[in-house]
Amino acid sequence: MENLYKNHYHLEAPRGLLNDPNGLTYFQGNYYVFHQWNRFDLNHSYKEWGLFTSNDLLSWKHQGSALLPDSEKDLSGVYSGSAIVIEDKLHLFYTGNSKINGKRRSLQCQAISEDGKTFQKINSHIETPEEFTEHHRDPKIWSDQNGYHMIVGSQTKNGHGAIAYYQSIDCKKWDYQGIFYTSEDLEQMAECPDYFELDGESLLLVCPQQRDLESDSDISSYSAYYMGCLRDNEFYPKTKIQPMDDGFDFYAPQTFLDPKGRRLMWAWMSRMNSNEEVTCPTIDFGYLHCLTMPRELRVIDGKLYQLPLQEFLERRILIESLETVSYESKELATQSVIDMTWSKSPSSFELAFFDQNVTLEYKDQELILSRISWSDKQVHTKTVPIKELKALQIFIDSSAMELFINKGEKVMSLRYFLQQEKRSCDIRSSHQMEISYSKLES
Ligand code: FRU
Repeated sequence: MENLYKNHYHLEAPRGLLNDPNGLTYFQGNYYVFHQWNRFDLNHSYKEWGLFTSNDLLSWKHQGSALLPDSEKDLSGVYSGSAIVIEDKLHLFYTGNSKINGKRRSLQCQAISEDGKTFQKINSHIETPEEFTEHHRDPKIWSDQNGYHMIVGSQTKNGHGAIAYYQSIDCKKWDYQGIFYTSEDLEQMAECPDYFELDGESLLLVCPQQRDLESDSDISSYSAYYMGCLRDNEFYPKTKIQPMDDGFDFYAPQTFLDPKGRRLMWAWMSRMNSNEEVTCPTIDFGYLHCLTMPRELRVIDGKLYQLPLQEFLERRILIESLETVSYESKELATQSVIDMTWSKSPSSFELAFFDQNVTLEYKDQELILSRISWSDKQVHTKTVPIKELKALQIFIDSSAMELFINKGEKVMSLRYFLQQEKRSCDIRSSHQMEISYSKLES
């Protein structure tokens, strides 16, 4: 059976279940994207770090396993974390998870590599401070003139989401400094925090999670960000919490600074519930999930923008470009990009992909994305308010799509699964638009 779902520019593991991107870095001439991986099965019962590398961000090689749950500290999983390069050594920070007699323990651990191929776990670790439960994970590290900094996703003992802050002068011995940020927004647990400065602003990324305190299980979670400022080791937001992505499938993003000085981000391209996960059509081919394409983050006029990389834009091969109010194509290439721009915002706009499998509608200053679910066969929708629609750029891969709205002011990501190879699209706009359709060279 041919695999029609295999993506070309969304990273997928060769087998098993992939989740969060981990340890993003550039080391000895290569980009490193580690990831959470169950290489044995299509569920979440086992977690190690797998690794993809690339020297151009376009062609990637899966290198297999990097960090295994093979020590007493990480018996139940090498959970998410980040990377930092110090004096030509790659340092990985991760959460060692263990459950002994049903009791969870989380330790923030470190491994070091000189060649990017073998990773030596080091002996020391950080234990969870008194005020938190053992839902303490996903260390994100950065450095500046004051030394090394680490934030860790946490839950306070009274069941609130929080972010813990640690400091070190040598990247070996870490001291807990207190709570970096907490508020009602962070629900019952804050997963995968990230903090960085960009274009003169300070940003905090976090995945607030609602947990059922009795069964200690995830009820719902999403990825969000704030802009704010850092004062005395605490983050003060100046914006309301906002979703990172307004589509269906996006979680656990992580960023890093690339050698060109760009703030790049990958995320896990899934927010599937367990029903969607167990019925996901790629299961027939022995794997589950993918990552988003890399996005460049920028702050422009006080707003966060997410942009497709120049490297990807340069891969477009223009097929057709016209000015029109309607556009139809019976056969889009499997890897394609559709660019639309308006000089005056349309009052209404409709786009149907693949016999209505995925649709987008703009009306009453709202953009509504719909898809037919592969699990319950119902139409599910996501809505985002957009005052004026000026530009829409849609990146399509075999079973993944990312929609960049108004040049990255908002992004909607989703997985979709088509049984047939034919990929039609039908677009109608109340106002004239400039539209171009390109194939994406693989
Ligand atoms: C987020 C997450 C992290 C954890 C990892 C385990 O998706 O739950 O908090 O470290 O996945 O795979």
